[in-house]
Amino acid sequence: LFVPGDAPRKLEKGLASGADALLLDLEDSVAIDNKPKAREIVSEYLNANIGKKERPRLFVRVNALDTGMTDADLDIVIAARPDGILFPKSRHGGDVTHLDAKLTAREALHDINEGSTRILVLVTESAQALFGLHNYRGSSKRLDGMTWGAEDLAADLGAETNRNERGDYTDPFRLARAQCLFAAIAAEVAPIDTIYPNFRDAEGLKRETREGRRDGFTGKMAIHPDQVPVINEIYTPSTEEIAKAQRLIAAFETAGNAGVISLDGQMYDQPHLKRALRLLAHIG
Ligand code: COA
Ligand code: MG
Repeated sequence: LFVPGDAPRKLEKGLASGADALLLDLEDSVAIDNKPKAREIVSEYLNANIGKKERPRLFVRVNALDTGMTDADLDIVIAARPDGILFPKSRHGGDVTHLDAKLTAREALHDINEGSTRILVLVTESAQALFGLHNYRGSSKRLDGMTWGAEDLAADLGAETNRNERGDYTDPFRLARAQCLFAAIAAEVAPIDTIYPNFRDAEGLKRETREGRRDGFTGKMAIHPDQVPVINEIYTPSTEEIAKAQRLIAAFETAGNAGVISLDGQMYDQPHLKRALRLLAHIG
């Protein structure tokens, strides 16, 4: 769940939202004059909450490298030990490697274990970024997830809108979405679907969230607390799905780990086994 970094009331509400992670924003939801104040609020908030046992993971979205503000953001927030950084407007894996170096220097300064500050990266916010998706793999040991954005990409393209009359993304944005998914899987990090901006439209959110899970995303970002339970429900494997995966794995074992088996009149081979194992891995 995104929470603007200069909004103490929303920051408080975020804690009880049920979100797995809060994205404490210093970037696009904070006006330029408010950046210094937002850094202070976020840093105090981290200091007050990072030691709590039951809490969402706390990530800070810093300002992009080309703004010249990234270092000032990190100088203040890393001392307060966030779980990670959400890194916007990344252009290629090299940008993540640069962020990694900045984090390493500050971890040393504050006696924080090297590598403990994780990275989630936003990889589709400009046309240029879509050509830099091939080299995130290995860009940093800190990289845990990849996500995409359609709003900044629309601004970069000069697109009038990013959705058609039915509310679905138009071609340029569908391409960005798919490319993010491929890039995350190729880099062996979690693919996380983008926000659904129309936060009063629960049906639209459900539809888009289901499509994300269907295609392989493992989570979705939210902008409003009302969206969190909808997303959690759709991404949490149901008891039927878990039981089915367990049965499938057991059937392969019983068959002496055969390449292909039949179960309930259906053929299952290695890709099905891989999917079942992956589902169980996600629920830990
Ligand atoms: N996190 C935590 N709490 C939030 C929240 C959020 N993202 N968005 C709204 N709330 C709180 C409100 O403070 C309000 O609480 P209150 O009634 O106790 O004061 C309650 O939830 C209901 O809010 P609501 O009136 O429905 O929405 P709003 O008009 O106040 O805010 C937005 C709408 C879009 C401005 C707001 O949801 C928001 O700031 N979202 C995040 C924006 C962001 O970070 N964008 C950058 C990434 S794209
Ligand atoms: Mg943005």
